[in-house]
Amino acid sequence: MNEDEFAKSLLAHERREWQNPEKIIAQIDVKKGMVIADLACGPGFFVVPLARAVGESGRVYAVDSSELMLGYLRSNLERSGTQSQNVTIYKSDVSQTNIPSASCDIVLFANILHDLDYPSEFLTEVKRISKLNALIVDIDWKDIDNGFGPPLDIRMSETKAQGILKKGGLVLVRSIDPGPYHYGLVLKVP
Ligand SMILES: C[S@@+](CC[C@H](N)C(=O)[O-])C[C@H]1O[C@@H](n2cnc3c(N)ncnc32)[C@H](O)[C@@H]1O
Repeated sequence: MNEDEFAKSLLAHERREWQNPEKIIAQIDVKKGMVIADLACGPGFFVVPLARAVGESGRVYAVDSSELMLGYLRSNLERSGTQSQNVTIYKSDVSQTNIPSASCDIVLFANILHDLDYPSEFLTEVKRISKLNALIVDIDWKDIDNGFGPPLDIRMSETKAQGILKKGGLVLVRSIDPGPYHYGLVLKVP
């Protein structure tokens, strides 16, 4: 699958059948007026419903290193009729963003931790942009063979993810249900 096909697959209607972004957002206490970062946002599967959930008084920082993905994100925002003025898009590496320090109530990263070569640098950035008491949400593929998604050998087990997140200075608060093929961890900076 090339990157274009991959971007389309991330927004495919079938994905919503096994991973509903609104149901996930309902589990992470999103409120009107909040500031939320979606790191490695891709074409915006979570950005659009997050922007709706925080409303006009809130802000979503959407970060991705791929111009192609961000192009799909812009079209996705337009198509959805979402107020795009409360979404700030940054093209950058997730470990070095332009998001202001201590600005985010929630930092979400989905389907990316397993792919990062330097997770400790990434988690330093996550902590830099988090407000005191911010919620940090990691969603990633379970290491089970479900017939689609990333190959098993590049997936990261929930146990390994918990170890990396703990080493990065985060404390597990609770788990959420992001659908049958993923685990979801809610963490805080102690
Ligand atoms: C598997 S997709 C997930 C997209 C989105 N989070 C979702 O769940 O629909 C991974 C995304 O991470 C982006 N990405 C990969 N490595 C990155 C990095 N180091 N910095 C920023 N973005 C990155 C890719 O361009 C891609 O859009």
